[in-house]
Amino acid sequence: MDLKELESLYLKRQSCREFSDMVVPEEVVTEICRVALLAPSAMNAQPWKLIAVMGEKKDELVKALQRLGMNKFASKASAAVCVVAGKGNFLTQIGSAFKENEFVKNDLGILTAHLTLAAEAAGVGSCILGWRDEEKLRSILGLEKGAVIPEVVVLGYPAEGYPVREKKRKPLKDTFALLK
Ligand SMILES: Cc1cc2nc3c(=O)[nH]c(=O)nc-3n(C[C@H](O)[C@H](O)[C@H](O)COP(=O)(O)O)c2cc1C
Repeated sequence: MDLKELESLYLKRQSCREFSDMVVPEEVVTEICRVALLAPSAMNAQPWKLIAVMGEKKDELVKALQRLGMNKFASKASAAVCVVAGKGNFLTQIGSAFKENEFVKNDLGILTAHLTLAAEAAGVGSCILGWRDEEKLRSILGLEKGAVIPEVVVLGYPAEGYPVREKKRKPLKDTFALLK
């Protein structure tokens, strides 16, 4: 794959907010997660777990992602993939403490990006949902009290005719610098 092909994947990947009735098969969801988990992490600590939720459990979980009319579209998603934080390893914990760099948080963001792009490459739409009732999510997922779930990514096939929107991004001069 060259950069142009990669760019076209990036341009096609968008937050999908209208899903079709067709359910993404379990195997496809699993494959997307497997590929996403090739993401890099500080000291290769892989401080994460992806928990894919489908079926009735997904219907229950999605309610914890909706509030004040937000994220209604998530009800039609085939799966909700929860990005769950792990502890990192000894070195990344030391590194985070001394360098004021939250490695685990960064690693989870990178994993989430890989997940959305892997989904796109599999022809599956995705949307990262930042708003969530973490307490409810923990209880539905059967996780302990301190578990951190910074992101949930809903997956589904885009509704027929769902348009590819033009990307609205800040001009390069505001977000990129080249120093010599
Ligand atoms: C951390 C994070 C949280 C987000 N939360 C939501 C959300 O709760 N609901 C939603 O519809 N979109 C959510 N988004 C999607 C952004 O609005 C979207 O990525 C941004 O507007 C750029 O559009 P694009 O993804 O279509 O390129 C979230 C994105 C990120 C990275």
